[in-house]
Amino acid sequence: MNNGDVSQSRRRFLIGATSAVGAVGAGAAAVPFVASWNPSAKAEAAGAPVTVNVSKIEPGQQITVEWRGKPVWIVRRTEEMLENIEKLNDSVKDPQSKEAPQPAYIEGIYRSLKKDYAVLVGICTHLGCVPSYRPEVSPADLGEDWLGGFYCPCHGSRYDMAGRVYQSQPAPLNLEVPPYKYEDDNVIVVGLDPEAA
Ligand code: FES
Repeated sequence: MNNGDVSQSRRRFLIGATSAVGAVGAGAAAVPFVASWNPSAKAEAAGAPVTVNVSKIEPGQQITVEWRGKPVWIVRRTEEMLENIEKLNDSVKDPQSKEAPQPAYIEGIYRSLKKDYAVLVGICTHLGCVPSYRPEVSPADLGEDWLGGFYCPCHGSRYDMAGRVYQSQPAPLNLEVPPYKYEDDNVIVVGLDPEAA
């Protein structure tokens, strides 16, 4: 080995050692950041519950909150809307929502814990578009038979005000109902079951 080789090897070692120190340094510096970032990242992955005060929602109004990265609609339904849901029992594919993605404690045609408030995941069960809120009765573009509900602009699936899909639509299932509970009369927590503390 001549001197040139020695200095070559040494240079390589020094470069390697410096890189190693650099890597450790970077790792140590990253720890506090990771430690402070992890809890919220975990909470988000687990789907932190979303608390919503519904007292300001007007009759007939829809609001949207985000839960687990998905739009969740809360609609304060009017008496007329509730009556129209009942009228559509023979027009929808699964009136009692036996096939629908929803918690076991959600039962019946209104698909909600309390009739006044619908809580639905706003994603079409066909290919995942976000349907439009169309509460009007018999608007020109949706026709005489339309009694209010949600209309998916992508391929035309129609849902009623309980998120039940009409018969013969591209969408196979009623809209999803997320887990939720009432904390009190005016506060809904999306993402927690009623028996949760
Ligand atoms: S994605 Fe809604 S009808 Fe196709």
